[in-house]
Amino acid sequence: MKVLLVGGGGREHALAWKLHSDDPSIELIAAPGNPGIAEHARCETIAPTDLDGLLALAQREKVGLTVVGPEAPLAAGIVDRFRERGLAIFGPTAAAARIESSKSFAKRMMGEAGVPTARAVATRDIQAAKRAVREFGAPVVIKASGLAAGKGVVVAQTTAEAEAAVDRLLGERALGDAGSEILVEEFMEGEELSLFVLTDGATAIPMLAAQDHKRLLDGDAGPNTGGMGAYAPVAIGTPALVRDVMDRIIHPSLRWMRENGSAFTGLLYAGLMITREGPKVVEFNCRFGDPETQALLPLQVSPLLPLLEGAAGRLVDSALTWRSGASVTTVVAAAGYPDSPRTGDELTIPPVAADVHVFHAGTARDPADKLVSAGGRVLSITALGADVREAAARSREVAERVGLEGKQLRRDIGWRAIDARAVADASSTRPSSALQP
Ligand code: AMP
Ligand code: GLY
Repeated sequence: MKVLLVGGGGREHALAWKLHSDDPSIELIAAPGNPGIAEHARCETIAPTDLDGLLALAQREKVGLTVVGPEAPLAAGIVDRFRERGLAIFGPTAAAARIESSKSFAKRMMGEAGVPTARAVATRDIQAAKRAVREFGAPVVIKASGLAAGKGVVVAQTTAEAEAAVDRLLGERALGDAGSEILVEEFMEGEELSLFVLTDGATAIPMLAAQDHKRLLDGDAGPNTGGMGAYAPVAIGTPALVRDVMDRIIHPSLRWMRENGSAFTGLLYAGLMITREGPKVVEFNCRFGDPETQALLPLQVSPLLPLLEGAAGRLVDSALTWRSGASVTTVVAAAGYPDSPRTGDELTIPPVAADVHVFHAGTARDPADKLVSAGGRVLSITALGADVREAAARSREVAERVGLEGKQLRRDIGWRAIDARAVADASSTRPSSALQP
């Protein structure tokens, strides 16, 4: 089997590693790939958004399946182009990818499908946006409707901060067309969860729920990023909760998409807030998440390729199997990330145990073949352990030993799981009154 993998980040390295470790005879081509992916695949320097180049490559190489990692080629219609030529491809069409590429489309879908989510007003008008801010009151969330690589969301603590965000997006056009329409959204309180669902449009198979860490700094402080770490499994992501999310969120959304001429195929990523009233959608993405994928795939026992082929055609309903224990991914980011990451720094990777994975994200080889940083998020380091605490300690220990000048990493990935256990341990050894205020 020949598979073309589109993308060159940590998510794609994890996909390449999993496909290769399931079946070492698989022939993988990556475009553009990276030095880590090159251990499992032949890399071709074609950009993920060069649809003509990718199509020519897939036809020339007689690729059996193309797997798309990032959202940009999906939003640009790579799946439509491949399918027109009868090529099997994993991912949604451009119309279905609107579930991520247009937050106002996703809100309309959820409204019509009866899917629980935050109340929101979609508008292109500054005054209408500010009226909505005053109506909702602070805290309130301002979101660019279009693709903004994680930079399009402001959780405003005051109405003044929210109005400033409205001015930046609609007035100054700080994000260009991605922010020419915005959502003013009610603030939701609760714990966040990422649930990935593989689907052929009708049959849907959930993966384990994972938790991302979007803020740059320990304690969930600092600016939003693409994600500084992730872990799985997550205690609140119980089988009962996942069933509830499938029944009330995933299936109604997939049904609406089918009935409205944009059946969603590939991987549907539900970003959820587990509120007091139950799970609500924060956002949908139309692809595997990064870095959750790097945490999930090393835990997954079920082979991946049949699932990707199924989602690109007809998916057989089945339950995935997972290793026991936990997985934690720590991202090592460059100095200056997320605003202006420094690239070109020398990078050294320490030796690691067999069940620790150093997934390359923003790396490259310089003319002397030395490994250097080449992006904001440089590595994602996944370790397994008996529980989140152990996996986190192992992942962090390797991240600390990575050689990269000015590197940034969070040292508290999985803190919610670890804190919860500390509370549980305390309550089992102390009289319960010790926990009362
Ligand atoms: P998004 O790109 O839509 O996932 O938003 C980025 C992050 O902003 C989310 O992971 C949440 O932490 C936060 N966020 C977005 N929308 C809301 C909301 N309505 N209420 C609370 N937090 C939100
Ligand atoms: N982990 C966030 C994302 O992939 O969008």
